[in-house]
Amino acid sequence: MLYNPEAVRKAYDEIADKEDGFEKGFSLRNEIPRMFIKKYLEPSDSVLDAGGGSGINAIMMAQRSQRVTLVDISPKVLELAATNIHNAGMTEKIDLTVGDISDLRQFGDAEFSLVVCIGGTLSYVLEKGQQAIRELVRVARRDAILIIGCDSKYGFVRWLFNEIEAESQLETALEIYEAGKYEAAEGVFARLYTVSELTTLIQDAGCEIIEIASTPCLINSWEQSSYPVEEQRGLLELEMKFCTAPELLGTGHHLLCVARKIG
Ligand SMILES: C[S@@+](CC[C@H](N)C(=O)[O-])C[C@H]1O[C@@H](n2cnc3c(N)ncnc32)[C@H](O)[C@@H]1O
Repeated sequence: MLYNPEAVRKAYDEIADKEDGFEKGFSLRNEIPRMFIKKYLEPSDSVLDAGGGSGINAIMMAQRSQRVTLVDISPKVLELAATNIHNAGMTEKIDLTVGDISDLRQFGDAEFSLVVCIGGTLSYVLEKGQQAIRELVRVARRDAILIIGCDSKYGFVRWLFNEIEAESQLETALEIYEAGKYEAAEGVFARLYTVSELTTLIQDAGCEIIEIASTPCLINSWEQSSYPVEEQRGLLELEMKFCTAPELLGTGHHLLCVARKIG
């Protein structure tokens, strides 16, 4: 199964409203990467938010930096982003454009001082993962920070055992483990990465790794809405202590890698 941009675009066009609701809600899958963004974002930054979705992260970043460019493959998602950005009074600081992370030719070399690509976007480009990372690094300035996320192979398979019926879990887990990808929506596959697969691609593209996180690793990222609301902030604090522990890297649903362009 090779990367099919049309299928990804169609799938996100169809679930754009749901995606928007998810980005606006509190979830560890949203909040942990946001904590890392806040840690590295500088007021002088010019940011690329690649696969930026409906703009909630872009708005947060634009409030704290010079400028944000959000690129996304789904025109429908971008329409929602435009509304959110307008409602937040941020239209002057955020550019929106349709595009694909595996081919960022609309941007020149070294245009951005912070490049963010989180929320599984990298996983959708399947075999073009290396090409996408090279594109993200190409548009970053020397010494720029890149924050890149993807689905985690071991973490995803581990979480499966909380997700599916007992009698089918082993077969499904083995299939997904061996394939290194899963069907995220009809005809849309997402690649699962190990820590070393992700970090090797990022290093080969000319970066040094600063830190890696497993997000979230304490609790299933889909089921946490059933967790008591009053404890979710506390859970986030605890996750932030756990998520970079070397012993746990790879166990969360997603991986997050912070890197610096050195080449
Ligand atoms: C799960 S959402 C994450 C949105 C946001 N980055 C976040 O973390 O909340 C994934 C987004 O990536 C976009 N996307 C998927 N494949 C893409 C690609 N190849 N290039 C650009 N955007 C893509 C989707 O349209 C969707 O908006």
